[in-house]
Amino acid sequence: MSETATLEINGKKYEFPLVKGTENEIAIDISTLRSVTSGITTLDNGFKNTSSCESAITFLDGEKGILRYRGYAIEELAEKSDFLEVAYLLIFGELPTKEQNEKFHRDIQKKSLVDEDVKKILDGFPKTAHPMGVLSALTSALTAFNPRSVNVDSEEDMYWAIVKILAKLPVLAAWAYRKEEGLPLEYGDNSLGYVENFLKMMFDLPNEVYKSNPVIVKALDKLLILHADHEQNCSTSTVRIAGSSHAGLFASISAGISALWGRLHGGANQAVIEMLEEIKEDGGGYQKYIEKAKDKNDPFRLMGFGHRVYKNFDPRANIIKVAAEEVLADLGIDDPVLDIARGLAEVALNDEYFKSRNLYPNVDFYSGIIYRAIGIPVPMFTVMFAMGRLPGWIAQWREMRLRKEPIGRPRQVYIGATERSFIEEDKR
Ligand code: CMC
Repeated sequence: MSETATLEINGKKYEFPLVKGTENEIAIDISTLRSVTSGITTLDNGFKNTSSCESAITFLDGEKGILRYRGYAIEELAEKSDFLEVAYLLIFGELPTKEQNEKFHRDIQKKSLVDEDVKKILDGFPKTAHPMGVLSALTSALTAFNPRSVNVDSEEDMYWAIVKILAKLPVLAAWAYRKEEGLPLEYGDNSLGYVENFLKMMFDLPNEVYKSNPVIVKALDKLLILHADHEQNCSTSTVRIAGSSHAGLFASISAGISALWGRLHGGANQAVIEMLEEIKEDGGGYQKYIEKAKDKNDPFRLMGFGHRVYKNFDPRANIIKVAAEEVLADLGIDDPVLDIARGLAEVALNDEYFKSRNLYPNVDFYSGIIYRAIGIPVPMFTVMFAMGRLPGWIAQWREMRLRKEPIGRPRQVYIGATERSFIEEDKR
């Protein structure tokens, strides 16, 4: 194979080197394109063909349905690991030794207190505020309480910033929920594991003894692992690009939370349940919704279907589908919404429109069903996704800073008015 790509513009040829990844992915390195062509750029709306960086964190092959964190298959990690261990793996590159793992857990527990003044900020939000907005704002506010920016040349400094955000974000997430519910804020119990403690912080009532359910803890742990990273998706790219200006870790994560919020990204898990509920209210017949999704004049999309990268199947959806069935069986829940989901998936998977466009159920199609079964309220679904994605955002931010990447600053093709003279107000 030739090691270069040739581009011909107006009869003139330019050579560009090919870059090959460890999984044999090939990219054309066009970093000299503008200078050698005197200003020509590439246009790639939605970055469908653009690799924004070289990364050693997550590999995914959308055609084959492969997802690996640092080389380990998602299926194996979901079965054998736990969320904090996966977080360590993603961020630092290797599975932790027993000592490293225990220290990581202990350090996170030690840093889980949040400045009491954060409660005053939380108090300023109306109860109706969406918890994603609250989480993004409070995460950004953490910067004010930790004003010294991280010295990225110090492993020690970097480690503690990472520990702090992993420790405090679940507290903020639980508080966002408790505020909405009018419940007293609490810190949980450091003798519990990360996920178990989060559930306690969410659901502990002042007049009851909290008892955790191992089925729920395991299901949530698995869901968080499945969401932990997904290479250069919308929110992760946001985190990397915000951080590329040397904005701090917490500020960059806050930007990522905002990007995750939308219905086409993390917000899809909320949108899926709302769609399934709507179908249920409408009598449960899903064919009408299939037709709506296919109608080009109707903006409706089948939420939880399709993926920018997976064009065969989403490996996370396969794991989560089985997990959803297990959780519902374990908890003895008979959820009519799951029947609608099963039926909808089957009809869509056999429909030519969906088949020809490679539209398969994605991770969010089933995650909401589990969240619902374990008592997470619908507006908190995307917050759960944010908690899961946090290690990925951290890992990507750290990688970007350690590789000393330049500030992210795309070009554009200007299509506006050419130069014209100012028109006085009375002549407009
Ligand atoms: N329902 C109906 N039609 C769809 C859907 C859908 N969910 N998704 C894509 N299409 C059609 C789309 O109309 C287009 O048709 P045509 O070629 O005739 O114009 C074709 O499929 C390609 O779609 P696209 O919008 O060009 O694909 P994309 O890669 O830009 O978008 C997506 C990917 C995930 C934004 C999109 O599939 C979608 O909106 N899905 C529903 C929202 C969703 O479930 N999002 C969660 C993604 S997984 C979790 C995460 O990573 O955040």
